[in-house]
Amino acid sequence: MMENTYQLSEQQINHIREAVDIVDIISGYIPLVAKGKSFFGVCPFHDDHSPSMSVSKEKQIYRCFSCGAGGNVFKFVMDYENINFLEAVKLLADKAGIPIQIENKHAPVQKKFQSYYEVYDLAFKFYQNNINTALGKEARTYLDKRGIDSNIIKEFGIGLSLKNTEMLTKLLLKKEYPSKLLIKTGLVNENEKGFHDVYYNRIMFPLWDLEGKVIGFSGRIYQNNDTAKYVNTKETEVFKKGELLYHYHTAKNEARRLGQVIVMEGFMDVIRAYTIGVTNVVATMGTAVTKEQALLLKRMAKEVILCFDGDEAGAKATMSCSNELLKIGVTPKIVRLEENLDPDEYILKYGKEQFVRKLENPINIMDFKLGYFKNKKDFSSNNDVAIYVKEVLKELEKTDDVVLKELTIQKLSQETHLEEQFLKDQLQEQKEQPAFVLTPKTNVKLTKYEQAEKNLIYYMLESPEVIQLYQKHITYMPTKKYRLLAVQIACFYKDYKCIQVADFMTSIQNNEELTNTLNDILALNLKEEYTIDEIMDYIKTIHEYGVKFQCKRLKEMMQMEIDPMKKAEIGQKIVELRKTEMMDRG
Ligand code: CTP
Ligand code: MN
Repeated sequence: MMENTYQLSEQQINHIREAVDIVDIISGYIPLVAKGKSFFGVCPFHDDHSPSMSVSKEKQIYRCFSCGAGGNVFKFVMDYENINFLEAVKLLADKAGIPIQIENKHAPVQKKFQSYYEVYDLAFKFYQNNINTALGKEARTYLDKRGIDSNIIKEFGIGLSLKNTEMLTKLLLKKEYPSKLLIKTGLVNENEKGFHDVYYNRIMFPLWDLEGKVIGFSGRIYQNNDTAKYVNTKETEVFKKGELLYHYHTAKNEARRLGQVIVMEGFMDVIRAYTIGVTNVVATMGTAVTKEQALLLKRMAKEVILCFDGDEAGAKATMSCSNELLKIGVTPKIVRLEENLDPDEYILKYGKEQFVRKLENPINIMDFKLGYFKNKKDFSSNNDVAIYVKEVLKELEKTDDVVLKELTIQKLSQETHLEEQFLKDQLQEQKEQPAFVLTPKTNVKLTKYEQAEKNLIYYMLESPEVIQLYQKHITYMPTKKYRLLAVQIACFYKDYKCIQVADFMTSIQNNEELTNTLNDILALNLKEEYTIDEIMDYIKTIHEYGVKFQCKRLKEMMQMEIDPMKKAEIGQKIVELRKTEMMDRG
């Protein structure tokens, strides 16, 4: 069984799942219509109008035949409500009237890094204290000039590192944290003279993990000197810049409530937005958006608005962030700010109302891209126009939105005086040569062995009888992903003496690869009844592969062998192997 890091046992979790009916729960969100053994509705996880989602009362799972979304009731609620697993468990337990007590803690991990968190917390308090002392006067004046008052300083935990480069180090060593650990945290360094603070004379902005624990800092210069504007804590085991978003832990509730999250580049932008009451905002902190960050945004809210800096770098970042989001099925909306201003500067210059109006009127992604490609092109040059058309068509290929496609083609036609039909043909032609494929599933032809493995697993999920046959006859599945999944199913069966797909899903939910393989197999939708003969056929096919593989290896060994006795021995083995193969077939 996968390790369970929650405070609830798997039994408790399964009990909650059993206490609710997936059909009731899902029909609380979207209308479902009964058809045969299943219920159907319009999938809420992709843009659709036809009922492509089926919900099985019997298996207590759902699946969308169009976008491939699928899972048990926890997964549905997580994705629909944009909440994490424990929150989904809590929500459903409440619905079922089962009292549970959970705190979102990953206990073992927490312990391992406990001392890191303690060190950051001490540093956080130390820096915060400094800014309120006489030594913090200049920093306070700087912040005040930027319109950041004492409330905001407090709310965002803004602090100050001092000119003296030993204070924090001394404090931490006095608390008996090992110097090795202190160096690992990125707050302390060592040189010939001994240990000293990494940060000095900077305004300190704490950075938080997804749960709101301080895990590092960004220090900003505030006096005239020519060192780097910001210095970030180095990456540690608890601080990975690419896996978090600035102010996520505070913004997520508001984003969920509003169904919208706004993304900016800098944390000063987030802080400024906060001062005018726009609080569903996070920042990427100046680096290219990673897949992890894109997934976080997707979880936060349905609507994602990118409001990056108004300069060219900001446009570039908007482009790459959009593409990262499009890859995971999120179409962001875009706000562009004039005069190269960043959101902070824009709000200061034009005020709350005008900025909010900008947010309320974002442009669609294609319009942004058209503008982006048009930039610096000379439309009197055929060469530039040709490049422009190619760039736009390539982008159009990435979107599934047919209306947007049609509208963009119209625009492109007006701009370039090329016939709409011609542009459509070009788009079609481009599609036919598979350049880089963004659509998730292309039907790759499976070998008969892979098909047998998949079918066998499909029925293992239906009945313990098949699991027993698997245990009796199969020692090794040739394909790794199916082998791993089959082993997990057998383990689950051993623990629970039964197989309930919806609970099995919970047990492997932290393993994305296994979950994908499982969904892929469930999509087979094979007929309900099976015969033992069919199952034995799958098993034989899988054996046949094993025998073939072993024979091949033995033959290779035989060829290499010089000792005639040994050669004969190997030959004998091959004959015996072949016999078992015949028996299997017989
Ligand atoms: N950044 C960084 N290191 C730098 C510059 C920037 O880590 N040397 C990150 C910071 O997280 C910053 C973000 O990139 O929040 C955006 O950078 P920038 O636009 O230069 O900063 P501003 O947000 O405009 O900050 P300020 O207004 O204080 O100049
Ligand atoms: Mn700025």
